Amino acid sequence: MVNLQVQYLGKTLSSPLIVSSSSLTQSVESIKKCEEAGAGAVVLKSLFEEQIEADINREEYNGLSRFHPEAQDYFEQMGRHLGATEYLKLIESAKKTVRIPIFASLNCVSEPWWIRYAEQLVTAGVDGIELNLSRMPRNPSETSQMVEDRLIRIVEKVTQRVSLPIAAKIGPYFTSLLHLALRMQRAGVKGLVLFNRFYQLDIDPQNLRLAPGYQFSTPQEVYTPLRWISILSGQIECDLSASTGVHDGITAVKLLLAGASSVQVCSVLYRKGIGELRNLRKGIESWMEEKKFTSIDQFRGKLSQTESEQPEAYERLQYVKALTGIS
Ligand SMILES: Cc1cc2nc3c(=O)[nH]c(=O)nc-3n(C[C@H](O)[C@H](O)[C@H](O)COP(=O)(O)O)c2cc1C
Repeated sequence: MVNLQVQYLGKTLSSPLIVSSSSLTQSVESIKKCEEAGAGAVVLKSLFEEQIEADINREEYNGLSRFHPEAQDYFEQMGRHLGATEYLKLIESAKKTVRIPIFASLNCVSEPWWIRYAEQLVTAGVDGIELNLSRMPRNPSETSQMVEDRLIRIVEKVTQRVSLPIAAKIGPYFTSLLHLALRMQRAGVKGLVLFNRFYQLDIDPQNLRLAPGYQFSTPQEVYTPLRWISILSGQIECDLSASTGVHDGITAVKLLLAGASSVQVCSVLYRKGIGELRNLRKGIESWMEEKKFTSIDQFRGKLSQTESEQPEAYERLQYVKALTGIS
């Protein structure tokens, strides 16, 4: 009998498999299905400040404020507070229905709302918060340093005000990821989610307009999180949660060997249904039985860079035949 328990963000998870932030975790029924199929935790769909703002602009606050221009600010603030109501209700009813930890996810534009919404999530009883730190840098005078400073400032502000464990979910596009990860850790995050995979933009050449691209990952996309988790594990104290490209149990095993504390899944469940979690779980269990491991701690991080006798192999970027066997 193998034990799949792991520690993640101060919680004991019955399995390292987490259903990642998406509409798969947008209702209590769906969260219940995740638990029944063996998820160790779920991350709720992000609460987007931009979405709330768009709703306010569409709705009656706008109409009312036309008659009372000075009331506009009042309605806007009220609307922003109320915008989170449904999300908070989801947390409260999910907490009453399932036993697995529920992590919220937040994506804001303005600094004050990162803090205000994070504080509201705490009162709703969530187990931890994932900061979905993704915004396209589009200001040509903003340097990489300024982009990173902005992210760190958000993390610091939230971790100073909120006592719950905070994880930062970032994309892979940073020049010096190790440096940024260490800054995130100093700013107070307890977990890093590597990596977010962004909405894909496409172009419809027939109708000469923009179109949504294919939204789901392929198994080949796991190599970027796999490399970075192997490198960061052992160099950083935060829990590392893998995301992107996990479509089967054996891939989850690879990420645990690299040093991940948990493994998030999304695309595979969209494609095959939430029940596919059972197969992922079985995949991990079968491998552990074959290798005679009874707990995840016995092998987690065994193939991280710090545990390796060939640490330089983790940093190889070029196809040099003598070293990689591939030309
Ligand atoms: C339809 C869809 C909606 C998503 N919504 C969110 C979201 O609200 N917040 C977030 O942080 N990530 C979101 N993601 C990203 C996923 O959580 C995940 O990080 C990404 O899909 C990579 O994992 P995968 O390869 O298992 O799909 C979404 C992904 C998809 C496909």
